[in-house]
Amino acid sequence: MECSTWRSVSIIILFTILSFVGSGYSQQAERYSFLNQAAEAPITSYYDYIIIGGGTAGCPLAATLSHNYKVLLLERGDSPYSNKNVSNLMNFPDTLADTSPTSAAQRFVSEDGVINSRARVLGGGSCLNAGFYTRASPNYVREAGWDGRLANESYEWVEKVVVFEPTMPKWQTALRNGLLEVGITPFNGFTYDHEFGTKIGGTIFDGDGNRHTAADLLEYANPEGLNVLLHARVSRILFKIEGRVRPKAYGVIFWDQYGKRHKAYLNQGADNEIIVSAGALGSPQLLMMSGVGPRDQLEALNISVVLDQQMVGQGMSDNPMNAIFVPSPNPVATTLIQVVGITKFGCFIEGASGSNFIISGSNFTGGTPGRNFGMFSPQTGQLATVPPKERTPEAIARAVEAMNSLEESHFQGGFILEKIRGPISTGFLKLKNRNIDDNPSVTFNYFKEPIDLERCVRGIQTIERIIKSPGFSNFTYSDLQMGTLLNISTRFPVNTLPRSSEDTRSPEQYCRDTVMTIWHYHGGCQVGQVVDLDYKVFGTDALRVVDGSTFRFSPGTNPQATVMMLGRYMGVRIQNERLARQRAARET
Ligand SMILES: Cc1cc2nc3c(=O)[nH]c(=O)nc-3n(C[C@H](O)[C@H](O)[C@H](O)COP(=O)(O)OP(=O)(O)OC[C@H]3O[C@@H](n4cnc5c(N)ncnc54)[C@H](O)[C@@H]3O)c2cc1C
Ligand SMILES: *[C@@H]1O[C@H](CO)[C@@H](O)[C@H](O)[C@H]1NC(C)=O
Ligand SMILES: *[C@@H]1O[C@H](CO)[C@@H](O)[C@H](O)[C@H]1NC(C)=O
Ligand SMILES: *[C@@H]1O[C@H](CO)[C@@H](O)[C@H](O)[C@H]1NC(C)=O
Ligand SMILES: *[C@@H]1O[C@H](CO)[C@@H](O)[C@H](O)[C@H]1NC(C)=O
Ligand SMILES: *[C@@H]1O[C@H](CO)[C@@H](O)[C@H](O)[C@H]1NC(C)=O
Ligand SMILES: *[C@@H]1O[C@H](CO)[C@@H](O)[C@H](O)[C@H]1NC(C)=O
Repeated sequence: MECSTWRSVSIIILFTILSFVGSGYSQQAERYSFLNQAAEAPITSYYDYIIIGGGTAGCPLAATLSHNYKVLLLERGDSPYSNKNVSNLMNFPDTLADTSPTSAAQRFVSEDGVINSRARVLGGGSCLNAGFYTRASPNYVREAGWDGRLANESYEWVEKVVVFEPTMPKWQTALRNGLLEVGITPFNGFTYDHEFGTKIGGTIFDGDGNRHTAADLLEYANPEGLNVLLHARVSRILFKIEGRVRPKAYGVIFWDQYGKRHKAYLNQGADNEIIVSAGALGSPQLLMMSGVGPRDQLEALNISVVLDQQMVGQGMSDNPMNAIFVPSPNPVATTLIQVVGITKFGCFIEGASGSNFIISGSNFTGGTPGRNFGMFSPQTGQLATVPPKERTPEAIARAVEAMNSLEESHFQGGFILEKIRGPISTGFLKLKNRNIDDNPSVTFNYFKEPIDLERCVRGIQTIERIIKSPGFSNFTYSDLQMGTLLNISTRFPVNTLPRSSEDTRSPEQYCRDTVMTIWHYHGGCQVGQVVDLDYKVFGTDALRVVDGSTFRFSPGTNPQATVMMLGRYMGVRIQNERLARQRAARET
């Protein structure tokens, strides 16, 4: 009796939570009382923690610290809740395609020539991404020096609010079957865990295709302890230098959308801190702009050197992605990533299917004009039919035009992609100027290390076998119909396998020519190089970096789970350690 009462109570609570969580974005323009515009902020203000970057790590970190401290979260972008491009799976390409200064995505092109994107919105990359959610392996967690139990608790904290089990359309099921048939076994079912074999992962899109993001983790915040400022562009961290052995961060300068300058300072208190969570491009960029970085680079830009730190901006990596379009004789639903094959040879195989059609007069709310291939649309910068350095705006325009002249049936199909584990190849980031709104220059050196290239080649060969596997047969043309396929592909701005007689490229060259990004770039403030195991910036006081810039390798098959986990994890650790110090101080 008592037990069943409890059960119905908890079912009611569950429904209340679910209906709250699932209630959609449209009516939530002002979802939180603590969301404010930077322009409304005073010229100077004081906080216990100032977090720079309301992204995938910054939001869970701020939510956690707000329970015991006064926290300021500074985000340069807008709220995701009023942005239709962010809110639904079908709109995936729209934000990436929007290159205006108000877009939630800021396009950048690496020196390698690959077109890429970084977030400029509360919730960060989780507002732009393909939604796939999967944890790091226990081995990765161990090597990162994280406490396994707290890491698991932190993953669970995230999963309760933003992660869902996907419903599997036939195309994704066929991909799963193909992966198993080519030997990427066992089948591990639906799981967040990272294990060899094939699995179905979580997704931050709910059953209606609505996106749930790191900004939703602010639900956990204590509204009394948190102020989130939107359109707050931080241009500099301020350091006390005089009379100190180590420079100590004590405040920040930020600009509102009307170009007015504000300052926020740390309250008095030995434990108060500034935490940089501005992402893999933003964090090293901001450290350098603030005088922490390689002396020669800073001096060349007249930035006064606070700390000569040669490793800031080093160790930048972007996992190469190569993808193959597989035209289907049967209709396919639009899906982003749901299934992954985790191979033993160091590559992850995933897929996305379908396409979007913006038909004027329809009730579709997306903005990308014309037809597109979802995740692999030239409009978003993904154009693998020409080598990286030839992906000019003109080349993109030609591809878009070619696509718009195709019949709808030509879009029927899906992409099977491979991402290289790691990667081992690394590059570097440099400032171009002292404008925080501009992208720094970044070089990823895709495939510089031979092992990355070998893994790509094996990945492409594996995809070829998947396409030929019986399990995938409903969604590909048979060998007999390959002529049709090739005929289609010569007119398509997408890649197919390098099998035509004209394509004499080696598999290695094919990998280099068709490399794209899966947007998992990381590094620049790596643990052991720029920050210590507590994420404190070496050689400074009261300053940490907590985000994807601290990673040496991309965690799991896809990183967002671990980035969100890390925000929560570090929030709990910082708070617990501080409370323990206070207790110890009281006892003595
Ligand atoms: C298109 C795309 C698809 C992806 N697909 C997946 C996927 O399916 N699964 C997956 O796991 N991962 C995916 N990822 C990767 C994942 O989303 C990112 O690795 C992750 O979001 C990075 O988190 P972060 O906290 O390091 O940086 P971000 O989330 O980018 O956060 C940085 C924040 O800091 C802000 N900021 C930067 N500079 C300043 C400044 N000076 N002042 C104020 N604010 C500033 C930015 O606006 C941003 O909000 C994808 C990413 C993209 C872009
Ligand atoms: C959505 O995307 C479209 C096309 O990319 C763009 O024109 C529009 O301004 C975007 N809307 C918002 C709210 O950012
Ligand atoms: C964390 O969870 C994973 C499963 O997701 C498990 O394999 C691992 O042992 C757990 N670690 C600890 C320390 O409990
Ligand atoms: C740096 O300062 C010097 C002297 O004021 C000036 O000549 C030079 O142009 C400046 N360089 C940059 C990159 O601003
Ligand atoms: C329009 O809305 C209806 C009902 O919600 C839906 O079934 C249909 O797929 C939508 N059409 C488009 C083009 O989005
Ligand atoms: C192909 O599709 C048909 C019709 O839906 C189905 O019966 C069959 O099982 C599918 N084949 C495979 C290999 O999945
Ligand atoms: C190739 O496509 C063109 C244009 O659609 C068509 O005329 C031709 O018959 C096709 N050839 C083959 C071999 O399918």
